[in-house]
Amino acid sequence: TPPDLIRNFCIIAHIDHGKSTLADRMLQITGVVEERAMRAQYLDRMDIERERGITIKSQAVRMPWASEDVTYCLNMIDTPGHVDFTYEVSRSLAACEGAVLLVDAAQGIEAQTLANLYLAMENDLTIIPVLNKIDLPAAQPEKYAAELAGLIGCDPSEVMRVSGKTGEGVEDLLNEIVAQLPAPTGNADAPARAMIFDSVYDTYRGVVTYVRVIDGQLSPREKIAMMSTKATHELLEIGVISPEPKPSRGLGVGEVGYLITGVKDVRQSRVGDTVTNSAKPAADALGGYRDPKPMVFSGLYPIDGSDYPILRDALDRLKLNDAALVYEPETSVALGFGFRVGFLGMLHLEIVRERLEREFNLDLISTLPNVVYEVEVDDGRVITVTNPSEFPEGKIAQITEPVVRATLLAPSEFVGAIMELCQSRRGSLRGMDYLSEDRVEMRYTLPLAEIVFDFFDALKSKTRGYASLDYEPDGEQTADLVKVDILLQGDTVDAFSSIVHRDKAYAYGTMMATKLKDLIPRQQFEVPIQAAIGARIIARENIRAIRKDVLAKCYGGDISRKRKLLEKQKEGKKRMKMVGSVEVPQEAFIAALSQD
Ligand code: GTP
Repeated sequence: TPPDLIRNFCIIAHIDHGKSTLADRMLQITGVVEERAMRAQYLDRMDIERERGITIKSQAVRMPWASEDVTYCLNMIDTPGHVDFTYEVSRSLAACEGAVLLVDAAQGIEAQTLANLYLAMENDLTIIPVLNKIDLPAAQPEKYAAELAGLIGCDPSEVMRVSGKTGEGVEDLLNEIVAQLPAPTGNADAPARAMIFDSVYDTYRGVVTYVRVIDGQLSPREKIAMMSTKATHELLEIGVISPEPKPSRGLGVGEVGYLITGVKDVRQSRVGDTVTNSAKPAADALGGYRDPKPMVFSGLYPIDGSDYPILRDALDRLKLNDAALVYEPETSVALGFGFRVGFLGMLHLEIVRERLEREFNLDLISTLPNVVYEVEVDDGRVITVTNPSEFPEGKIAQITEPVVRATLLAPSEFVGAIMELCQSRRGSLRGMDYLSEDRVEMRYTLPLAEIVFDFFDALKSKTRGYASLDYEPDGEQTADLVKVDILLQGDTVDAFSSIVHRDKAYAYGTMMATKLKDLIPRQQFEVPIQAAIGARIIARENIRAIRKDVLAKCYGGDISRKRKLLEKQKEGKKRMKMVGSVEVPQEAFIAALSQD
């Protein structure tokens, strides 16, 4: 297809504003998917995505669309919907010339709408503002058209109105995409350059790589090179998705499609990398390439220790499809053999854990997640800490922690509640704007560590569910952090150590000590539970002793009965872990680590 007949676009929206429904409707209206083959949310392929209604992996579909007797080729690029995948979103946007900014006509602009809009503007995309769900009785198109127009600086009459559900307005929208978005431009005679915006592992075909060609041309059977690694591969297959993969004779300037080279690991075909021809390579890679960087680490342990090999194999398998997943073996006194796993964020952690449990039938326990700290010790050495156990003893010169730039959106009555919450999480207000009379956008800088745990839940409960949140990494800051250890009768329980702000150390220590006091059964002797920073004890509880002599009732007589009782007691001990001389049931660890 010649570039002037191509339009590349994506749909950006807050979660649940109807992106997938609209995408499905477009596929149907353009005839790419027949009505009877239409299943809800055609683009969301993975089960887990469908169940949770979130899009994790982006894909691209090609649709023909005739506008004023000319047939255009529309490439719709699906963007992942969550903060943890900001980098993938930015690459999907970079593959487009324009974006449909979709807003629920009954909800108005939300935090993710804004965050995605900012990313689209950074990529110089043409924005088409659209209100969705106008069929809803609760829709307020006048109000929200004004809000949206105010945000992007257009006239309210230019805001389109559609219903992905009924199809109303969708044809007009397709016509506007053709009319308003610029055609791709690029140099057809230059050495090939194509940007990878997604890369998915397929059990049968190996890695399927999604690309947007910027310059030149890619053809089947040629040798290609990845510009970040210089690795070369033969192009076994190249084609377009419409809506199933269809091999083609090549891809030219502005075209979007997929490649298959037979590689088996998405790390060999990384999002953001540039593909070129290895015999005639381009001089410079396209900008914007970045290695995925894990932001949150947690220990993952099988509840049944004999599942460890299954967990190891499962992680090896998931890694093929997830370039951001990193892990290494780790052992814990309390939890046995497991892995230290790095994630892009909390949603990524949840997804990985859920897939491990569901697809590999594992029961897992995860330790408190922590972010990555850089600790400079007195002699100038800098230690990267991804696990509280790596936190250096002795004198510390300085500690830095990652921070994020957060966008919060809520009805104005909740401004006070949000400020209070953010302040209690060491946030600093960067700015505040009224989008309309009763809706406020607040921008905060917050330590990542303060929002990875339960920030979102706290925000929702303080604003009765009305606030929305989005954030992206924004560098590092120094902070006064300490490691709090939890000791049982003087022995540290490694799984409970945590790096926290000095002002919150006491609260963490007492919380854990109180929790454990109720969870650990009494022993033959008194067990002190202590929270400590280094050698300094900051909190203490006691589990009182109990003299639970099972033989006492036997009056020294019946030997076989005695033996039976002893056997029984041994049974019970199997699921116990020893911390020093204290017996702790495994359930106690699980309960203490669960976040509620
Ligand atoms: P994520 O992929 O989770 O970000 O969601 P999404 O933006 O793709 O939203 P999705 O298409 O899953 O729609 C969310 C909900 O809104 C679903 O229950 C849809 O049935 C409903 N919905 C989507 N479009 C419309 C519409 O035009 N009218 C009405 N009434 N409901 C809609």
